[in-house]
Amino acid sequence: MNDIIYMDNHATTPIAPEVLDAMLPYLTNHFGNASSTHPFGVYAKDAVDKARQQVANLLSCLPKEIVFTSGATESDNLAIAGVAYASKDKGNHIITSTAEHHAVLDTCHVLDREGFETTYLPVDKYGMVNPDDVEAAITPKTVLLSFMYANNEVGTINPIQDIAKIASKHGVLFHSDAVQGIGKLESSVDILGIDMASITAHKIYGPKGIGVLYIRDGIKLNPLFFGGGQEAGVRPGTLNVAGIVGLGAACASCQTAMEMKTEEKVVGPLRDTLFQKLASELTDIHLNGHPENRLLGNLNLCFAGVQSHSLLAGLKSVAVSTGSACDSESVTASHVLVAMGIPNELAITAVRFGLGRYNTAAEVDTVANEVIQMVNQLRTLAEE
Ligand SMILES: Cc1ncc(COP(=O)(O)O)c(C=O)c1O
Repeated sequence: MNDIIYMDNHATTPIAPEVLDAMLPYLTNHFGNASSTHPFGVYAKDAVDKARQQVANLLSCLPKEIVFTSGATESDNLAIAGVAYASKDKGNHIITSTAEHHAVLDTCHVLDREGFETTYLPVDKYGMVNPDDVEAAITPKTVLLSFMYANNEVGTINPIQDIAKIASKHGVLFHSDAVQGIGKLESSVDILGIDMASITAHKIYGPKGIGVLYIRDGIKLNPLFFGGGQEAGVRPGTLNVAGIVGLGAACASCQTAMEMKTEEKVVGPLRDTLFQKLASELTDIHLNGHPENRLLGNLNLCFAGVQSHSLLAGLKSVAVSTGSACDSESVTASHVLVAMGIPNELAITAVRFGLGRYNTAAEVDTVANEVIQMVNQLRTLAEE
């Protein structure tokens, strides 16, 4: 697969070399259970403590506010269902948006069937939530707001700080699925004003199967699993030490990348060059997502008249995605594009390019040329 150019960094990122180096000892010699009291356990526990501190450093929070999970799907479930169950005496109303990841939407759907009531706010044509709509939807029964930091399909960044101010004004908890934003954008939970944040290592150059739910000190939520009491009982289960070490190293590596402005200096310019090349050679292409308020690595484009699955099948040396990664084989329009009001016949032509820190200018050239050639070829075929 070395000859395939990877441009699907919103689906997952490669593991950074420094992350792998940090993890390897915990997959070999240092295999102890972090709950054991003998030296193997103590060594593992020390590594977990260090990683917890690295995550806390990135989020500017306390280590005790970090709960390790199996990834953002679990973190989203735990935040939303956990708060809903714990707040039953206060109210049963949750507010989210139609453009959220399925980990949020499907959790809310399950809760709705159990008697909770979720308001699914519409988003604008860029996929952005309007804070005024959020405030208008709050009722005395509202216990939780859940809005993603940045959209995983179109990259649009939500006005998180404005929503946080509204949440705090009304005394309602605010959870954010921050998977695509943390480690690239402002990552201090205090500056953002969020009470809970879901993070996953595999979107920030760490391993799969390990994530975090940040829970502001003092917030009560019901666990979804029961067992050994790890993570203060909020998420019991033997800790995934190697994964946690990898997540910690990934957070430290992101902090360095943020200090070096890698996204602004490297990723954004590559993404812009790719767009310029495609736009200068192809007619009838449409940019999805906010033109400016968007993740620097994201380029979500509709190529009118060319179904995205046909285009992807034709791109032999490029790994990109249609819509979200989870349904990359589906030809049904993505729920995010539908929520943005994009007509179905255009939405099914959407392709997501997700650029990351390891992409190069030469790769952008190759990808642009191959996409231009394939779009032209498919359009010509369609005319015949
Ligand atoms: C915004 C968002 N939330 C949640 C998830 C799920 O994360 P995980 O794969 O760690 O369960 C993803 C990954 O696709 C995502 O992009």
